[in-house]
Amino acid sequence: MPTLLRLDSSLYSSHGTSSQLTALFTKQWVQARPDTDVIHRDLSLSPPPHLDAEHMEALATEVSRRTLRQQELVAAADILIQEVRQADTLVIGLPLYNFGIPSTLKAWFDHICRAGDTFSYAESGPVGTLGGRRVFALSTRGDRVSKSGKDPQTDHVRAMLNFLGMNDVSFIYADGLTIDEECRAAGMAAAKNRIAQHTCTNPVRA
Ligand SMILES: Cc1cc2nc3c(=O)[nH]c(=O)nc-3n(C[C@H](O)[C@H](O)[C@H](O)COP(=O)(O)O)c2cc1C
Repeated sequence: MPTLLRLDSSLYSSHGTSSQLTALFTKQWVQARPDTDVIHRDLSLSPPPHLDAEHMEALATEVSRRTLRQQELVAAADILIQEVRQADTLVIGLPLYNFGIPSTLKAWFDHICRAGDTFSYAESGPVGTLGGRRVFALSTRGDRVSKSGKDPQTDHVRAMLNFLGMNDVSFIYADGLTIDEECRAAGMAAAKNRIAQHTCTNPVRA
């Protein structure tokens, strides 16, 4: 069954502007593809823990020798990876916070980047194993970042997704949201327009 993973990372949970855009995207995507299954993970409601030494040690411990605590730590991260594996399409709510991605989303990436599982190293360099998925990142920003020419957030998210093998990535921007009402309305209208184009006209790829 086609599956869409909706990933929200606004600290305002469903009240966040980016979450409202992922909700709209999901609604329109499913309307156009009614057989789609949706997995919804809200990172502000269930934030993945920061990656720490305990977690790395759990991963390094042979499966049969893991303590109960280590099993639980790995199992929690396994679920995040499994959700991506289940999905053929991801839509990510991506607010810009302090020039970067929300810390919850960074923690999510830290958990799904797992050596020997979601990536490995070949002679040619790193090889991600999560390819074949489409990703839509719906980025909401207070300022007009897209026009500034300096956008470390987009570069970072693209690099992480590419590292994991996900190369079919589209960014949709709602910019200038905290400048004034006029800018906010224009930014939201532009994003909604692009969401409509992507959800309604692009067939799901096999
Ligand atoms: C903690 C915090 C940090 C922010 N940092 C930036 C920033 O660095 N640049 C910017 O243009 N907007 C910044 N903003 C504005 C948000 O990008 C904007 O309000 C966006 O719509 C938030 O999305 P959300 O409602 O989905 O959380 C920040 C907002 C918050 C709450």
